[in-house]
Amino acid sequence: MTFPYKDPALPIEERVADLLARMTLQEKIGQLCQTPMLDFDQHKEAFLDGVRQGRWGSRILADTAWAGNAPGLTVDPVELNEIQSAAVEDSRLGIPMIVARDVIYGQETVLPIPLAQAASWNPELVEQSYTGVAREAASLGIHWTFAPMLDIARDPRWGRVIETNGEDPYLTSQFARAVVNGFQGESPANPDSLLACAKHFVGYAAGEGGRDYDTTEITDNTLHNVHLPPFKAAIEAGVGTLMSGFNDLGGTPVSGSKPLIQGWLKTEQNFDGMVISDWGSISDLAYFGVTRDAAGAAAKALDAGVDMAMTNEAYEGHLEELLQEGEINEDRLNDAVCRVLRAKFRSGLFERPYADEQRHKAVMRREDHVAGALKLAEESLVLLKNRNNVLPLSKADLTVAVIGPHAHSKRPHLGSWCLDGKIKDITSIYEGIQANIPDVNVITEDAAFSDEMVECAHRADVVVLCVGESHRRTGEARNIAELTLPAGQEELIKAIGETGKPLVVVQCTGRPVPSPAAEQFADALLYAWQCGTEAGHAVARVLFGDVSPSGRLPITVPRSTGQIPMYYGRKPLGKMRDFQDYMPYKDSNIEPLYPFGFGLGYSTFSYKSLSVSKDTVKFGETQQVTVVVTNDGQVEASEVVQCYIRQTVADTTRPERELKDFRKITLKPGESREVTLTLTPEKLSFYGSKQCFHQYAGEIKVFVGSDSRADDCVSFDLIKG
Ligand code: NOJ
Repeated sequence: MTFPYKDPALPIEERVADLLARMTLQEKIGQLCQTPMLDFDQHKEAFLDGVRQGRWGSRILADTAWAGNAPGLTVDPVELNEIQSAAVEDSRLGIPMIVARDVIYGQETVLPIPLAQAASWNPELVEQSYTGVAREAASLGIHWTFAPMLDIARDPRWGRVIETNGEDPYLTSQFARAVVNGFQGESPANPDSLLACAKHFVGYAAGEGGRDYDTTEITDNTLHNVHLPPFKAAIEAGVGTLMSGFNDLGGTPVSGSKPLIQGWLKTEQNFDGMVISDWGSISDLAYFGVTRDAAGAAAKALDAGVDMAMTNEAYEGHLEELLQEGEINEDRLNDAVCRVLRAKFRSGLFERPYADEQRHKAVMRREDHVAGALKLAEESLVLLKNRNNVLPLSKADLTVAVIGPHAHSKRPHLGSWCLDGKIKDITSIYEGIQANIPDVNVITEDAAFSDEMVECAHRADVVVLCVGESHRRTGEARNIAELTLPAGQEELIKAIGETGKPLVVVQCTGRPVPSPAAEQFADALLYAWQCGTEAGHAVARVLFGDVSPSGRLPITVPRSTGQIPMYYGRKPLGKMRDFQDYMPYKDSNIEPLYPFGFGLGYSTFSYKSLSVSKDTVKFGETQQVTVVVTNDGQVEASEVVQCYIRQTVADTTRPERELKDFRKITLKPGESREVTLTLTPEKLSFYGSKQCFHQYAGEIKVFVGSDSRADDCVSFDLIKG
């Protein structure tokens, strides 16, 4: 006989209820546990037995807890099918396992790191690129990925800044939607889709001192206005799962925070998906000292709302005894199981538990995936400086020296969290120039010593010096105390600069790193981030003008480590700025080196006729802002039209600028376009003194322009309806 839960024609909730009613306590607890199944080959029979008994609801394909820094396992659909068969054919109820892997920004076609993606200011392109990532990963039998990461990063010392979309909640929210839609498609049950996981809920990026896993202290106001909105956006986009973070937030580690998980997430936002802990973040509750032991940690996490334990024995080892002792609530346990089952039904696992073992051969690095990754890499590059228009480089009659630690590097372009990208698929910057600009005379020196590079520079008409960080200096637990280039690179830039040759510095980086030598000696400075498998092609095409750079900074570049935190959305000062010749620092300029939203292209744009559709807007109404943008240069180029607001008076302090809309447009030389930006009631609301989102009557200033310093301003009154 076929049980109702196996009937795809029935509504998911009926299937969940039917299955739950048939499960033993041990089977229920099993669904709440994820295993890493380390050393599968050595312990295969024991593992398969565990699967048959229903000990685990999920498997994570990872070797260690470390975010991508220790890749080892490769994904084998044949092995996954063997395990799935033990679950589906040989376990009592045939509940499929859900297979997870950190597919953060690429399977074999690797996109730029998320920080670089955000620099594209092109969520549509990001969404489209992620459909390719999902297709490649899903073809191997992966069902679930732990992305997007939605932490708001305002301290670039933190190594995981690479995985974020930078400092701004609005920009991050746009990418939250894009990535969730890209991964999940129309439905996570689609064979080309993955179930997404928004993480790390919440505040993890605010670790003190830029140190990973460190204490976070975030006020209620900042939590709601800055850190939670991207999660709300992901939930609105239908994200299937969330991950609770590692951090202690103001005295309560979030993986044990009932107000945040049960309260804000599940009750206020009506999130009916599944919450998984981060690796070990349940037993961490005992290390934090908010419970005595692992059993207490399991009880606290379950009560807080964590449904599945990532690779952690706390649930597997203690939930049964905790239930018998009355330490956990049975309804809550059943709720957690329902959420796991719901995610599995929504992912279509009961209908399609197995991977097609051949499909990956047809989809890996498909032409359209690679083309999308290249376009995204091109749009992610940010040109910060271009003295005397040294860029774009001429394609003829030039000898170009391509040198520096990243001229020939490959693996670093994949960034620290890429498990499956292959070296053979990566194009170095040197190779990219050779492949794309065949007529140019390129010379190089694959040298570790600067004197050989200096010699090479002397023989060239122009130097492209590729510097920056290795992927090994970025990612989980890869923080730096000083925002400086790796050892020796300042001296190298100076030595090459002193040859007097026109100098283009290409900075491959996972974070904003100010370079005094690049400021002094470079004619051009291009942030090339860690741009994935297509990095070399993208850099070449931008340097030689096949495409005009259109990336804009998603994070402020501070002048020095001492300026941190330095982000554009700061609050106004109580003291007038000119009070007693007040200077914020005696030893430094207060302005950042390069502001949020900034980036140059090979053209210039002018703005005129900024206006709002209404002088007065009632609560609940939408305001339209229009502006006419003209390409005043000689080449086709893209501009990111950015709209910021300032609520001048409110019941709490409000930032001096807040990004509320943007449009990326491409204009031919001389072309003008009217651009409309929208300020919805939601965008005109904020979390205020009454501890809820509301609108506050008063003046709203609107700034529109090319970056966060935009001074073209118009204002309107927001009034009660
Ligand atoms: C720890 C990381 O913090 C998290 O982002 C990741 O998804 C898990 N490990 C699984 O690898």
